[in-house]
Amino acid sequence: MNKRPWIDTGLALIAVLCATIVAGCSSDGGSSNNTPEPTPTAALTLRYPQFPPMPEPPDDPANPSSMVKLELGTYLFFDPRLSTSGRTACNNCHVFNTSFQDNLVKPRPDTSQGDDFFTLKRNTESLFNIVYREDFFRDGKVTELAPSLTEPWVEDNQQLGKTHELAAEHLTEILRGIDGYKKLFRDAYGLDVDTAEPHEVFETAGRAFAVWVRQVVSRNSPFDRWNAGDDTAIDESAQRGAALFAGKAGCFVCHTGPNFTDNKFHNISSAVLLEDGSRDDEGRSVVTGLEADRGKFQTPSLRHAARTTPYFHDGSRATLLDVIKHFDSGAGSDPNHDPVLGRPLGLTSDEMLDLISFIRALRGESVVLWGPKTPLYTQAEVDELQRELLPR
Ligand code: HEC
Ligand code: HEC
Repeated sequence: MNKRPWIDTGLALIAVLCATIVAGCSSDGGSSNNTPEPTPTAALTLRYPQFPPMPEPPDDPANPSSMVKLELGTYLFFDPRLSTSGRTACNNCHVFNTSFQDNLVKPRPDTSQGDDFFTLKRNTESLFNIVYREDFFRDGKVTELAPSLTEPWVEDNQQLGKTHELAAEHLTEILRGIDGYKKLFRDAYGLDVDTAEPHEVFETAGRAFAVWVRQVVSRNSPFDRWNAGDDTAIDESAQRGAALFAGKAGCFVCHTGPNFTDNKFHNISSAVLLEDGSRDDEGRSVVTGLEADRGKFQTPSLRHAARTTPYFHDGSRATLLDVIKHFDSGAGSDPNHDPVLGRPLGLTSDEMLDLISFIRALRGESVVLWGPKTPLYTQAEVDELQRELLPR
């Protein structure tokens, strides 16, 4: 595989796939650095054992990866025909070359409903490392991977229907008109789209997405290499940042483990308080109905966070410095704030910059998406895929 320029974020994922799926495909291309992987024994002597390396993405024994499932998942992800307007693909917001999100500050127009624009309530999440999650969406409203990936078809962003039943019917109707998809569903899952129940088609599409999203992992960052003993992998500022993160600044309380998240929900005073005491977005309590969950949002992974501006559920913080200043001030303006917050951290401006260096050092190895003919590297190749290669 020849080296070709990345478009921007240096996503390089093909190596993982080559190793796990594409028998015989060379896996030397695409990687942005030549640093060897930490040896397995290095894990025993990590500088910060609470932040171990990301494990291999888990395969699902009930939905094992295969080339044809990956192909199906890829087409579904990039296919704008699978939306009400016929113009919105997942990739419109989870843009593959900007860390699978859109870097747009809210309010962003939603183009899925033809010319009837309206605004999405929340900030697009990166899809990096969602294969490792148990709760999906900022309020955790979906608790399984495959259904989380079809949920957008029921939502304002891609809306094929206002209920799961309607969305499944519309999706099935569209797919029945495209022979290429009928063949892919048959080859990948033995499913006959013409005779299957719409809910089966819908669920199977979710499973194909789940195979696709296993590519989207952020791991093997410079921090991981330094943590495993490579002294020169990150600079001194990032090293000081790691110590602050794991100490004085208290970030580790919520951002911990290999994915720098406890996978829980916290109120960090990030929602806007309204005059009547409610919030513009009540977060987790929308799902649980619990008073105690008001204003809580899921702790995001910080791997790749250096690239996923803007921040928080509503995109209200433009930069990492804005986020750190928020925590530095105590983050206690919400009456329901997490008990670990509320006390100013007293960070100096140098310390804030060190924390930023640390978060930058968490950015994982480049990944390259598998594409139907070539690996996808550039927007031009996505355009070509959408124009010429999608199933007909
Ligand atoms: C118009 C923009 C837009 C489009 C199109 C879109 N999404 Fe999203 N996506 C979002 C936003 C905004 C969120 C956060 C919503 C929330 O938390 O309530 C999100 C969240 C998600 C999540 C949850 C991630 C996590 O970390 O929990 C998944 C999974 C997802 N989208 C997959 C998809 C897939 C698959 C498609 C195509 C079928 C798609 N999205 C289309 C904007 C979009
Ligand atoms: C009490 C738990 C908690 C602590 C402590 C905490 N965070 Fe967070 N952090 C969260 C939650 C929850 C969010 C998501 C808020 C939202 O979506 O509105 C978040 C969001 C972020 C984001 C934005 C990520 C994104 O993709 O939007 C960054 C960056 C971040 N935190 C860094 C830090 C740093 C640095 C510290 C230490 C100074 C810290 N956090 C301390 C819980 C915490």
